[in-house]
Amino acid sequence: MTNRFLRNYIIVGLLVTITGGIILYQFLPDIKYPVIKSDPTVWNVPDINALPRTPEAGLIRYGRELIVNTSSYLGPKGSIASISNGMNCQNCHLEAGTRIWGNCFAIVASTYPKFRPRSGRLESIEYRVNDCMERSLNGEKLDSLSKEMRAMVAYLKWLGKDVPKENKLKGMGIPQFPFLDRAASVEKGKQVFYLTCRRCHGENGQGQLKPDSSGYIYPSLWGPNSYNVSAGIYLVSRLAGFVKYNMPYTDTPAGSQLLDDEAWDVAAFICSQPRPVKVFKADWPVLATKPFDFPFGPYTDSFSELQHKYGPFAVIKKRHL
Ligand code: HEC
Ligand code: HEC
Repeated sequence: MTNRFLRNYIIVGLLVTITGGIILYQFLPDIKYPVIKSDPTVWNVPDINALPRTPEAGLIRYGRELIVNTSSYLGPKGSIASISNGMNCQNCHLEAGTRIWGNCFAIVASTYPKFRPRSGRLESIEYRVNDCMERSLNGEKLDSLSKEMRAMVAYLKWLGKDVPKENKLKGMGIPQFPFLDRAASVEKGKQVFYLTCRRCHGENGQGQLKPDSSGYIYPSLWGPNSYNVSAGIYLVSRLAGFVKYNMPYTDTPAGSQLLDDEAWDVAAFICSQPRPVKVFKADWPVLATKPFDFPFGPYTDSFSELQHKYGPFAVIKKRHL
């Protein structure tokens, strides 16, 4: 008798506790535990100063130094070799390739070897670096086994070591922004240049050399010491994208300071000026893969070289991949 009573008592007690618990639970404040998760659109640049004092780390540091002060080592008066035009890799890959929107190197390690339509082959990092040596620095290739090439590749691999191939990072490479509905204007671009760029890059786009002429304080934008016509940045859309997000240069990223049409027009003006001509006959083995703004024919469409160079681009792009 006492046992059964006790049993019922316990069962009822349990039921009351459970139901009460469930009811109370509804009224509990919604507790959110802090989740420590980094923003997948932001690249966390590894810290070069945190590297140890080992030979491997030394090679990475040397690679960074070569990218920042290329001219001191490989320029016309270079201490290692005289095989490039006096520009530094950093002139176009800002802050040693670590600045977002500044043609950064975040995704190099994870995407190379990579198939590129310009060469029509799978390219290693060494191959891609030599592309910029021969075109952007209007120079000569480095031996893949040279200390300088191994150092730059070590730096690029270290820089991108934590970036997965599939990523959501923002501001990689040179971003694209909307086309104009007209052709980019050399005349209007000239005015933008004189108002906004001349004070640093010089009256004739020649830039400004360091006092000991070991390299540039402000690099040339055209003329004999600039990149050649086979460089990627000779395409109006690449140049406009770079300029739109990065020029006038500021020590800390200042966001876009130019209007879209100013960036397109000034890029057209710079691309209309003379620069070294070096042609690579094996480029674009499949004509249809030429970019919409590639300024040299033949093409698979009927638009002129002039329209391919300056636009209007939307109609051409429609016909492209
Ligand atoms: C005159 C400008 C310029 C200079 C100088 C320059 N580059 Fe480049 N580089 C570019 C452009 C433009 C691209 C292609 C970016 C794009 O299309 O998004 C590029 C691409 C690259 C890439 C491939 C990036 C990727 O994500 O696929 C590497 C690696 C590279 N450059 C290394 C170098 C190195 C190393 C140097 C110095 C030896 C150098 N560059 C100098 C303009 C330059
Ligand atoms: C305050 C000075 C300053 C102004 C103004 C300025 N730039 Fe630059 N520009 C630089 C510096 C410095 C670099 C190289 C950055 C580096 O090496 O870290 C550079 C690099 C460049 C490059 C890539 C390297 C090359 O030589 O092709 C281009 C293109 C460029 N500037 C275009 C422009 C244009 C177009 C304007 C005007 C809209 C402009 N800049 C205004 C300082 C300036």
